[in-house]
Amino acid sequence: MTESSRSPRGHWIFAAFYRRLCDVTDRAGFAKVRASLLADATGDVLEIGAGTGGNLPHYVHADRVFLVEPDPAMRKTLAAKVARAAVPAEIASGSAEQTPYADDRFDTVVATLVFCTVDDLDRAAAEAKRVLKPGGTLLFVEHVGAGEPKARRTQERVEPAWKRLFGGCHLTRDPVAALERAGFTGITVDPLPVGRASGPARPIIRGSARA
Ligand SMILES: C[S@@+](CC[C@H](N)C(=O)[O-])C[C@H]1O[C@@H](n2cnc3c(N)ncnc32)[C@H](O)[C@@H]1O
Repeated sequence: MTESSRSPRGHWIFAAFYRRLCDVTDRAGFAKVRASLLADATGDVLEIGAGTGGNLPHYVHADRVFLVEPDPAMRKTLAAKVARAAVPAEIASGSAEQTPYADDRFDTVVATLVFCTVDDLDRAAAEAKRVLKPGGTLLFVEHVGAGEPKARRTQERVEPAWKRLFGGCHLTRDPVAALERAGFTGITVDPLPVGRASGPARPIIRGSARA
């Protein structure tokens, strides 16, 4: 999603809604998913699409965290969390498709619930690969297109409205295929248990990949 794809008012409404949604889902168990994924985030970490900073409290082994978040309203909430973070952290300009960093800059790249929303999934995957050191790790959590035909048809039907409601989020994407196309290796994928509350945004997977 580009900055221009939502009105300024839309930005603030979605950011406020997303912050509350995050609080609810984190309390309902997603905080544990974040904590377990990010226990493996080491060294210099780039997080793409950091949103309202839900991952920040869980960087316990990182040296420094760099956060890319193109939405100005999300970034405002993020800035308040960065100021209180236990790990050194800074917000950067750019997007998942184009970050301001040199090749081979990071030990870890993190993307949670972001590949569903970026404008160009292949470019975002290629950019994550570019900025990772050879052998560096991408950690991700994502909801993906359903394999089961009936669930898939539902996703396809509701996706246009879903995208408008949830800041450009797609329901039918296949981020793992994009990571393969970008040249990542050693891709691991684990399904996460999900309840009905996630609606059509499932299955949800947690994974890692090596640059
Ligand atoms: C569903 S939220 C996830 C936020 C956060 N990662 C989390 O786990 O709570 C999706 C985020 O991706 C951001 N985003 C959208 N398009 C982006 C892009 N092209 N590059 C980077 N981030 C993007 C949105 O602004 C939003 O903050």
